[in-house]
Amino acid sequence: MIERRRRPRVRKATHVAAGLGLILVAGTARIPERSSTVVTVPVVLGLLLLATTHVLLTRELQRREHIERELHDANRELESFSYSVSHDLRAPLRSIDGFSRALVEDVGPALGPDALSHLDRIRAATQRMGQLIDDMIGLARVSRADLKRERVDVSDLVEQIVADLRQQSPARQVDVLIRPGMTATADAPLVRVAFQNLIENAWKFTSRRERATIDIGQSRDEEGVPAFYVGDNGAGFDPEYSDKLFGAFQRLHAATEFPGTGIGLATVQRIVHRHGGHVWAEGEPNQGACFYFTLG
Ligand SMILES: Nc1ncnc2c1ncn2[C@@H]1O[C@H](COP(=O)(O)OP(=O)(O)OP(=O)(O)O)[C@@H](O)[C@H]1O
Ligand SMILES: [Mg+2]
Repeated sequence: MIERRRRPRVRKATHVAAGLGLILVAGTARIPERSSTVVTVPVVLGLLLLATTHVLLTRELQRREHIERELHDANRELESFSYSVSHDLRAPLRSIDGFSRALVEDVGPALGPDALSHLDRIRAATQRMGQLIDDMIGLARVSRADLKRERVDVSDLVEQIVADLRQQSPARQVDVLIRPGMTATADAPLVRVAFQNLIENAWKFTSRRERATIDIGQSRDEEGVPAFYVGDNGAGFDPEYSDKLFGAFQRLHAATEFPGTGIGLATVQRIVHRHGGHVWAEGEPNQGACFYFTLG
């Protein structure tokens, strides 16, 4: 905290010193009749102030570089930690699931209905935990993958995602509007993951609509930077929590109503940030939702 308060003061002092130094040097150059003392003293003082500024700025730069390096290393460590933890958790989980199944198969008929129901619940819980681990691995993978920018045919990519969803749930009646000709210069596999999550959400949260509509297109952010959007007329959400949605495992709807682990939007945000872009959401309860993102 002390460090935080001290920094703005140092920055202010640097600006004042640089300003004074410049005024003194520039002011002296304008003196028409130059006597040696009138000129030398302010010039020396000005140059001294400028030199001090230079030293202070160099130190600040070094300090920042050091912090950035430390932050980068800490992030890498955290990523590889969560990646290996996720991998190592799979083995014991497989054992729990496997032995529970073996128990049901071997002595199932001898067990009472209560014991069988407990075993069922153990297996359901391990499967849910397996899903959580898979999602965490997915999130870690998104952070570790190399980013390769190339030209991406976004409209085509989105068409494929929607075609897959239609194939998976042929009974759903969903009007999907996809603007033609959308392109981006981005990492194609990562952009696919981002759209996949957003479109799957739109698909899921419109499942209670008789006439579901999804609109995928392009607009601009407040500064005029091109942004993609995925909008729908589904369940929507309370806009007060629109920032929270991007945190890992944050959900605004009950799993019984709309299933999910709450990792999709965290993945989208990580992909967008890796591209130097930003993501935001608009929505109203029962009035649908719209998710926007830029790609830097
Ligand atoms: N299109 C949408 N309409 C309404 N609410 C949404 C929409 N998309 C996301 N949300 C809200 O944001 C929460 C987080 O979304 P996210 O995609 O991270 O998780 P999920 O879809 O619940 O689970 P997962 O994506 O991990 O399967 C959702 O649970 C929901 O409450
Ligand atoms: Mg989701």
